[in-house]
Amino acid sequence: MTEKANHNLQVTADGRLKHLLTLNGLGKDFISHLLDRAETYLRQTGTLPARDYGLQGRTVANLFFEPSTRTRASFELAAKRMSADVLNLDVKTSSRTKGESLLDTIYTLQAMQVDVFVVRDAGAGIPEFIVNNIQPHVSVLNAGEAAVSHPTQGLLDMLTIRQHKGRLDNLKVTIIGDIGHSRVASSLYHGLSTMGENEIRFVAPPGMEPDMSLHPDATLYDNADEAVSGADVLVALRIQRERIDDPSGIPSEAEYMERYGLNSERVALAASDAIVMHPGPMNRGTEITAEVADGPQSVITQQVTNGLAVRMAVLSAVMEAAR
Ligand code: NCD
Repeated sequence: MTEKANHNLQVTADGRLKHLLTLNGLGKDFISHLLDRAETYLRQTGTLPARDYGLQGRTVANLFFEPSTRTRASFELAAKRMSADVLNLDVKTSSRTKGESLLDTIYTLQAMQVDVFVVRDAGAGIPEFIVNNIQPHVSVLNAGEAAVSHPTQGLLDMLTIRQHKGRLDNLKVTIIGDIGHSRVASSLYHGLSTMGENEIRFVAPPGMEPDMSLHPDATLYDNADEAVSGADVLVALRIQRERIDDPSGIPSEAEYMERYGLNSERVALAASDAIVMHPGPMNRGTEITAEVADGPQSVITQQVTNGLAVRMAVLSAVMEAAR
């Protein structure tokens, strides 16, 4: 699908967010407005969003066909904070495991007047497939699509960076680890390359490199120390074993830490005011040391708080488009 077509699917004719499938193709002003909207839910940077009644009478269904802690909890809490009715489909007991097709599950929930589907699935293209098969008043939010895209994570990462750096332009951002299997890296890449002239550096173990033809504005490094040198933002990623068919090439935990892990010595090579990020779940001692994860440059818990504000902003934006 082309960027233009994707944009048309996500945005209404009068320029409102209808679905959130990817950051790829969303404009700079559009992303800025979503981040500004998220800020309005943070009373003060770092504190929890206040209650809001914007989704009263609406129903949000969380359909997580892949494991999730942060994303699912924050979508649930975001919808509840906005006074929506929230339905969390327990995937292990859902009929999809009994052979009911995904669309039958969607149609069943649609018949119960669900307004927003929040979907995480291991299959590429599933959120868009749902968009193409639902009633016009319903919205779909991608909560993690295969290794392809995780747009709300990209937004919360950018909100966190903007809070610390005051801008989303002219930054050196190093993403380190298993980028090839990471939808987080991909969404952050699309967001940052839309927002400005950023130097996006990737460094990944052999076999975990991204397809650089999909990330033409980034530079792939071999050496982690070089890649973090002078960086403003460091993003650590875990090894995403669930997407690796042949585990024989996966480095040992010690080797991953030695060559790609964020430890204090490596972080010291970045700018002195660099921030350290991680989308979670974290494996302390593999991709990041406890000292760095809990250290003064870490903004990892702030990312989680911002996730709630971003999800409130996205939910309210799509429900506004439905009016
Ligand atoms: C990420 C995901 O699911 O893509 N987690 C998250 O949503 N915070 C990253 C990961 O699983 O490693």
